[in-house]
Amino acid sequence: MFDKPAVMLAPLAGYTDPPFRLLCFEFGADLAETEMISSEGLIRGCERTAAMMDIFEGEGRVGIQLFGSRPPSMASAAEIAAKKRPAFIDINFGCPVKKVVRKNGGAGLMRDLDLMGRIARAVTSAVELPVTAKIRSGWTRESENYIEAGRILQDCGVSAVTLHPRYRSQFFRGEANWNHITSLNAELEIPVIANGDIAGPAELREIINKTGCLTVMVGRAAIGRPWLFNKLRREIRRIYGSIVENGDYEKEAEYPDSLSDKLKIFEKFVRMEVDYKGEQRAILEMRKHYRWYIRGYRGMKEYRARLSRCETLEEVLSILSQVREEIEGN
Ligand SMILES: Cc1cc2nc3c(=O)[nH]c(=O)nc-3n(C[C@H](O)[C@H](O)[C@H](O)COP(=O)(O)O)c2cc1C
Repeated sequence: MFDKPAVMLAPLAGYTDPPFRLLCFEFGADLAETEMISSEGLIRGCERTAAMMDIFEGEGRVGIQLFGSRPPSMASAAEIAAKKRPAFIDINFGCPVKKVVRKNGGAGLMRDLDLMGRIARAVTSAVELPVTAKIRSGWTRESENYIEAGRILQDCGVSAVTLHPRYRSQFFRGEANWNHITSLNAELEIPVIANGDIAGPAELREIINKTGCLTVMVGRAAIGRPWLFNKLRREIRRIYGSIVENGDYEKEAEYPDSLSDKLKIFEKFVRMEVDYKGEQRAILEMRKHYRWYIRGYRGMKEYRARLSRCETLEEVLSILSQVREEIEGN
C-alpha cells in the first residue's frame, strides 16, 4: 500500500473525523487516518471511543490509529479495530501530550524502545492487516533514537514507519528536521512516510526530493483547507508523471478559487457534521473550524465572532449566506 506515490492526511485529534476526511478524499487525498484512539477505552467498550473508529462509505483508504502502553491491550484493541475493516492499523508513538506520555503512551514510548517493540509485535501478531507506526525523532535531542526505533519496528513486522522529525521536548516548536527522514529512509527496507511542516506543493516537492519517500503526510496545513489536497495531488502528478496517471488515482474535486466557493464547501462540511453527530454537538464542535474558513479576508472578524456563538445549523447557514452576500456585493 505504501509503494506508490501518495499523499496522506495526518491523524489530527479533534479534526480528522469522517466528514472532514471525506472532504479531503474528494479533493485528492489518497490515504487518511482516524485521530488517535485509546486502546484501553476500546477494550472497556466505551461507546464514544468506539465511535472514533467510524469510517464513512465513500471514504478512501483509512487507517485506525491506536495508542496505549500495554501490549495485550493494544493487541485486543487492534482486533476490535480490524472488525471495522480499515486499510491499516497505525500505532501512535508520537503524541507529546503530558496526560498521554505520563502513562507511557504516545511519544512516551520513545523512552522505552523495548516496550515499543513489544507493543508493535503484539499488534502485528494480532491482525492480518498492515500495521504502521508513527514516531518522533526521540524524547529529547540528547536521547535521539529514531533510527534504532525504526529498526526495531521493522523487525517487529511493521509495514511502514511515519517520522514526524521533532523531539517530544519540542512539541510542535522549531522546524521539522527532514534530514532525519532522509536518514531513516536510507536505513530501513520498509517504506518511510515523510511528515512535518508541509505547507503546500512547494514543500511537498522539496520533501520528496530530499528524502526519497513515496508517501507524504500532511496535517496542520489541511485544517480549514481540505482543498489543499487538490494542489498536492497535482504536484505529485507533476513529479511522478505516468506512474501516477496509471495508478489508482481518480479525478479530484475542483480547487475553490473564491471565498464564496470555499464557503459552499464549508456549508457542505457543516451539514455532514450535523447529520453525523446531531445538531447540538456538531455546531458546538464546529466552533474551532470557523476561523480557518473565513480568514485572510477583510471584515470577517465580526462574522467569525458571531459564528462561534451559534447554537443551531440555521444560525450558521444564515451567517454564511450573509458573508456570501457581502463579498458578492463588493
Ligand atoms: C491539533 C493536532 C492534533 C494532532 N493529533 C494527532 C493524533 O491524534 N495522532 C498523531 O499521531 N499525531 C497527531 N498530531 C500530529 C500530526 O499528525 C503531525 O505529525 C504533526 O502535526 C506534524 O505534521 P504537520 O506539520 O503536517 O502538521 C496532531 C497535531 C495537531 C496539530
